[in-house]
Amino acid sequence: MNRELVIVIDFGGQYNQLVARRVRECNVYCEIYSYKTDIEKIKEMNPKGIILTGGPNSCYEEGAPTYTKELFELGIPVLGLCYGAQLMQHILGGKVEKAPVREYGKTETHFDVTSKLFKDLEEDSVVWMSHFDYISQTAPGFKIVANTADCPVAAAEDEAKKLYAIQFHPEVLHTVRGKEILSNYVYNVCGCAGDWKMDSFVEESIKAIREKVGDGKVLLALSGGVDSSVAAGLLSKAIGKQLTCVFVDHGLLRKNEGDEVEAVFGPQGDFDLNFIRVNAQDRYYGKLAGVSEPEAKRKIIGEEFIRVFEEEAKKIGAVDFLAQGTIYPDVVESGLGGESAVIKSHHNVGGLPDTVDFKEIIEPLRDLFKDEVRKAGLELGIPKELVFRQPFPGPGLGIRIIGEVTGEKVKIVQDADAIYREEVDNAAAQYEKENGVEAPWVPNQYFAALTNMRSVGVMGDERTYDYAVALRAVRTIDFMTAEAAEIPFEVLNKVMNRIINEVKGVNRVMYDLTSKPPGTIEME
Ligand code: XMP
Repeated sequence: MNRELVIVIDFGGQYNQLVARRVRECNVYCEIYSYKTDIEKIKEMNPKGIILTGGPNSCYEEGAPTYTKELFELGIPVLGLCYGAQLMQHILGGKVEKAPVREYGKTETHFDVTSKLFKDLEEDSVVWMSHFDYISQTAPGFKIVANTADCPVAAAEDEAKKLYAIQFHPEVLHTVRGKEILSNYVYNVCGCAGDWKMDSFVEESIKAIREKVGDGKVLLALSGGVDSSVAAGLLSKAIGKQLTCVFVDHGLLRKNEGDEVEAVFGPQGDFDLNFIRVNAQDRYYGKLAGVSEPEAKRKIIGEEFIRVFEEEAKKIGAVDFLAQGTIYPDVVESGLGGESAVIKSHHNVGGLPDTVDFKEIIEPLRDLFKDEVRKAGLELGIPKELVFRQPFPGPGLGIRIIGEVTGEKVKIVQDADAIYREEVDNAAAQYEKENGVEAPWVPNQYFAALTNMRSVGVMGDERTYDYAVALRAVRTIDFMTAEAAEIPFEVLNKVMNRIINEVKGVNRVMYDLTSKPPGTIEME
């Protein structure tokens, strides 16, 4: 696909993916590469612009990440952010040193709005700063185009050479006009036309899949999660019945979820494909009987998935392609893209490729961020409820039940969880209707879990000895850290009442206040 490209060179900053996402929000396709990427490779890609990210180092220190000076002589516009800005100045003859005052947080900044980068901005606006070092002297040819009280060079440019250095972080939402600054960079400086749009992505992908697959057969493990569902939708539009989706219902899905997936992708749904649903509940409950250690449960569920899938694949026979719902953050996080090489520990379908007979892997969503996957899903006509589903772990309710998993416990947690989600969703919608904005407490992930604890209660005139359900709700941006969401007490109270009255086997409801760390988001 011949589209415009802006590349991000990653120096280990915490916002590396955010930079690329923001550029894509400007309708310009953007990829992340490590600072160790050879300049020849970058020249070959012929990008319209290059952005250097922030990073934790000091550029003047021995062994700090750097890049060849040639990068700034290619005639391609370069935008350095934070560390990237300092490195640009350092390499081109400016001076970077420890700042007398460390700037951190929202900072009032003055802009020279005659700069192409700051076109249509107000002269004074707030930016997000986070740095120990600062540019004390710009490199020859550079003009200062922004400053703060403590930072004389908040931005500098060499317009003729199309080099721009910004000390702050335009990619962070706290930078009030950050989006406009990045948009000015890609449009006013790099001269992009903005050809990255989801409708054309879908159209181009369908064409590319058809070309690649020819009349071959494709097999996809469909979990009902966002990524594999969108992959299924896309492949189905491209190759119809040449695609077979195997959906393993392990009996650890949320209430009615198996039927919902079948309604969308099964024979009654709108998608043309071969849909195989395997109802493997009993088989899973059998394997999980007597197992209470969380890692052991995860392992059993993962391995059993492979066994079931393998059996189905054998019935289908050899296929040409095995499709996977890999998305761009998976690629970056597994160290193939950017610099922050954290190997993803949460694998839904670990080990599959070795056990199924196929020629090639096909990953139609490999270039997309999550929000783009969602947009593509809507474009393909996949129902909103499915596209905006909250994250759900591969091992499902198996890791939301403390201790041994049984069919009875799964039913309890499914029913309690459905009530909880319904009430939170209703309350959030009500708040938004009344106030015109999203409620400040709306969690990013919320679910019920079953503690393995039973305690004495009283119901009617009878003594009970039943389970306690735990309600979990967190607010988080990256799912690496999280805070308990402050769901209004009356909402929790209503949920408690309904669960006690409607779910047999529960006589106590608790709210989990734990943040992450020290807790995790799941409760296993
Ligand atoms: P924790 O519990 O580790 O969860 O704080 C962080 C995020 O990851 C999700 N999660 C998983 N996702 N397979 C997945 O696809 C898994 O095995 C898995 N375990 C946890 C969790 O729901 C949360 O969003």
